[in-house]
Order: sequence, then C-alpha cells, then structure tokens
Amino acid sequence: MKNSKGDRGRFQKNLLAWYRKAHRPLPWRKTRDPYRIWISEILLQQTRVNTALTYYDRFLARFPALADLAGAPVEAVLLVWQGLGYYGRARNLHRAARLIEQKFGGTIPSEPAVLETLPGIGPYTAAAIASIAFDKDAAVLDGNVARVLCRVGGIRDPLTESSTKRRLKDLADGLLPKGHAADFNQAMMELGALICKPVRPACPECPVKEVCTAHRLDMADQLPIRPARPRLPVRVRLVTAVAYRGRLLFERRSLEGFLGGLWELPGVYLEGKEGNRQGLRRLEKRLGHRVAVQ
Ligand code: ADE
Repeated sequence: MKNSKGDRGRFQKNLLAWYRKAHRPLPWRKTRDPYRIWISEILLQQTRVNTALTYYDRFLARFPALADLAGAPVEAVLLVWQGLGYYGRARNLHRAARLIEQKFGGTIPSEPAVLETLPGIGPYTAAAIASIAFDKDAAVLDGNVARVLCRVGGIRDPLTESSTKRRLKDLADGLLPKGHAADFNQAMMELGALICKPVRPACPECPVKEVCTAHRLDMADQLPIRPARPRLPVRVRLVTAVAYRGRLLFERRSLEGFLGGLWELPGVYLEGKEGNRQGLRRLEKRLGHRVAVQ
C-alpha cells in the first residue's frame, strides 16, 4: 500500500464493505454491552473462536452481569473456567470485576488508558473493548492484525523488534477510519482469521488485494518475516531403576529451574564432552552402587 490518502480510503471502504457482508455472526458481535464484550475478549485471548463460544454461553449463564461476577467467590469463577486453561484469566476477571464495583461504581470504564489499569487488560484488549463497546477511536494490534499490516504495508522487518511494533502501531492508528472503529477493528480480526491466514492466505478472495503490497509482489505467504527459532538445547540424561520390594526409587528435582519440583528416576546429566561411560561412573558414585547396563 502506498502511503496515500487514496489507498487508505480504498482499504477502509473495501474492508468495511466486505466485513458487513461476510462476517461470522458471533454472539459478541450482536451486543454493545461492555460486560459481554469484555468477557468475550478475555475468552478469546489464547483460545479459538469455537471453544470460546461454548464458554461464553456458559460463563454468561452463570454470571449474567458484572455484579454477579464480583459477588461470587473466585472458586465459582474457576469452576466455570474449568478445562479452558490459562486460569490467570479467570482470576483476573474476578479481581477486575471487584475493582470496577469499588472504584467505578460498577460501570466498566470506556477509556483505553483506564481499562489498561485493570487486571488482565493489556493494550490490545483495552482497545478492543473501548472501540467495540464504546466506539472509541482506538486501533487494535495483536498478532493477527500485525500479520495483515505487514502484508498490506510490505513490512519486512522482524515482528520481534520494538521498532517494528511501533511502526505497525502507527500504521494501525493511521488506517483506522474515525467513528467506525468497532466494525473496522473486527474487520481486521476477521480478515486475519478468514482470508489473510498465517499459511496459504486466500489472496484471490481478499477485499483489499488491490492495495496490498505483499499481493502485488506475490509474497504474502512469506510475510511477516519469522525470526529464526533459537536452537533448542539438547541435554542427555542417564537414569537408573532402583527397585526395592516391588517399588521404584524416585527423587525430587530442586524447586527452581527446569521441571522444578517434579519427581524422576535417579540419574545424571552428561556434562560437556562427557561420554556415557564417564556419566555412568558419576551416577554409580552418587548412588554408592554398581549400575547394570541392559
Ligand atoms: N479475537 C479477538 N477478539 C475477537 C473478536 N471480537 N472477534 C473474533 N475474534 C477475536
């Protein structure tokens, strides 16, 4: 996309027209209730839409309004969250509900900066709630939106750099059509979910392909640039089974560090250039016993 008013206008118009026609009728898109929108955004963090749908209904049946959530014990919130994972989200929801009752008289704040003071609400979720529930001109930027923006803007810098993040934030803010943030933000999310997918993006069906730099250069599937994954460290461990009266000896790892506090068969990690034979000798010394190799 060129940095011109014409391209920006076309992007906004085509994206919004597509969204109004093609979006999935998700339940949180049929409400302007800030409480429901907040719950949906927290559920959608680290969770697929299909899973979030089930929990959305279940959560709202149990806690239909903010006061119900704030008045419940945290165990009740965790019970509804059971099976979804990332339980910190449930604890934060509960803490935030109580804070909203105490500090804001039970009314969910509408300003992104104030929303961000609540537990579990970062910049992305604050912008999502403020725009979708309150029509605030706040652009969302998460991994999906970043992918769309990298492709549309032909950005080849790695996403991990803070300078890239700033550049993407400026691009997102600049593209937001004032007064239409609710639909526009959801349209960006929807485009990322349905068309501008991480692998095999469906460019022929894309409503903004004419202004997309990656499409013009036929490199949508190569963007964003993924930084090389750090090589995984490989550690070799020799373990032994010490049986006594039909039971096996286990020892507990120290609480700190890798797999801290878990139980395991007695053993040693090979160190440096140490071979199996030397490792075995060290293990025998530790145990005060010969170890038979089978
Ligand atoms: N992911 C995060 N927020 C979403 C929303 N409002 N709709 C669909 N997917 C989302």
